[in-house]
Amino acid sequence: MSALKGLRDDVYRRPLATALDRLGIELGWRCVDVGAGGGDVSVALAEVVGHTGRVYSVDSDPLARDEAARAAAAHSQVVAITQAGEDLNLPEPVDLAFCRFLLLHVVDPSAVLARMAAAVRPGGWVVAQEPITSAGRVGGLPLSMPDAAHPDVGARLPALVREAGLEIVDAWAEAQAGVGPGPVSTYLASLTGVDPGDDPVVLPPLVTVLGRKKHGD
Ligand SMILES: C[S@@+](CC[C@H](N)C(=O)[O-])C[C@H]1O[C@@H](n2cnc3c(N)ncnc32)[C@H](O)[C@@H]1O
Repeated sequence: MSALKGLRDDVYRRPLATALDRLGIELGWRCVDVGAGGGDVSVALAEVVGHTGRVYSVDSDPLARDEAARAAAAHSQVVAITQAGEDLNLPEPVDLAFCRFLLLHVVDPSAVLARMAAAVRPGGWVVAQEPITSAGRVGGLPLSMPDAAHPDVGARLPALVREAGLEIVDAWAEAQAGVGPGPVSTYLASLTGVDPGDDPVVLPPLVTVLGRKKHGD
C-alpha cells in the first residue's frame, strides 16, 4: 500500500491525501508543516517524501515542537523547529509549505500566508486546510469554537491565498459525517471534549486551497 493510500482512511488525513495527489508530491521534496502541533501532518509528509526529502516541522510552542519531534522520531528527515509562522525563516527554499488548523488560531492569517509564500521556491506550492467551524453540526446545531481567533477562516481562505500573491490551482471543501460510535464521533470528542452519543455529527468542513508561486516571483 502506498503512503498516500493509507492517508485516505483517516477523518482529516483524507483531504491531505487529495491535496498531495493533486500537486504531484514526489520523493525527495522539501516541505514545511507550519503549526505542526502533535506532528500528524509532518509524519504523513515524511512518509511520502521519504528519506531523501526533508520536512521542517514548525510550531511557535516549544512543547508542541517537542511533541512533533517525538511523533517523528522514526523519521530522520523531519527537523522540528520552534518558530512562529509570522517569523518563518528556513535554511533553504521548500517545494511545499503546508498548514492545517493553524490560521484559525493566529492573529493575522495573511501575515502567516505571506511568510509561507516567501518560503517556497518559484513554482512551489502553498497548501492550507482550515475549517468553517460554524458549518459543523452536532444534533443539528452549529458548532462553535470561542477560543479560536478566526473559527470560520476557511470561508475566506481562497481570498487570503490570492492576496498572498499565489495562483489558486484548486480549492474545495469537504466534511465527514456520521452517527454513533466511529471515527467521526471519536474525532469530535478529541476536538471538543464532547461525546455526541447518538446525535448525528457533521464535522466542520475543511477548506483546502492549493496555491502556487508563479515562476519568476
Ligand atoms: C490545532 S493545532 C493544529 C496541529 C496540526 N497542524 C494538525 O492539523 O494536526 C494548532 C497548532 O498551531 C500552533 N500555533 C498557533 N499559533 C501559531 C503561530 N503563530 N505560529 C506557529 N504555530 C502556531 C499551536 O501551538 C498548535 O500546535
